[in-house]
Amino acid sequence: MEPGIPGLVGLRHAYIVGQLTRWKVGERHAKEPDCMKRVASRLSDADISAVAAWLSQQQPPKDPSPESSNLVRMPLACGSQR
Ligand code: HEM
Repeated sequence: MEPGIPGLVGLRHAYIVGQLTRWKVGERHAKEPDCMKRVASRLSDADISAVAAWLSQQQPPKDPSPESSNLVRMPLACGSQR
């Protein structure tokens, strides 16, 4: 979703696990308010593995162009959506 929420389906399992773990332990940071820090810190290692398995097995959409911004009300504030 424009301007800052990336598509995740079809990313590699190890990459997704790596990013969520880096947020959880404080090695990856996004612009404040860092919504992904809040998301990742609520996920257990088993949750991270499960979500990475599911996402990595999905087929990316044929048209990968982003949805327009503010299509839906965000559940958390994200710095990169401003
Ligand atoms: C369990 C739920 C979620 C999972 C598994 C998840 C997973 C991820 C992953 C793996 C990335 C990194 C993508 C990359 O490096 O290419 C990412 C980035 C991002 N996600 Fe999430 N996400 C979740 C929920 C959310 C929610 C609820 C929001 C918005 C309210 C959100 C907003 C973002 C944003 C803005 C980024 C980019 C951060 C940056 O600027 O680096 N995510 N997400």
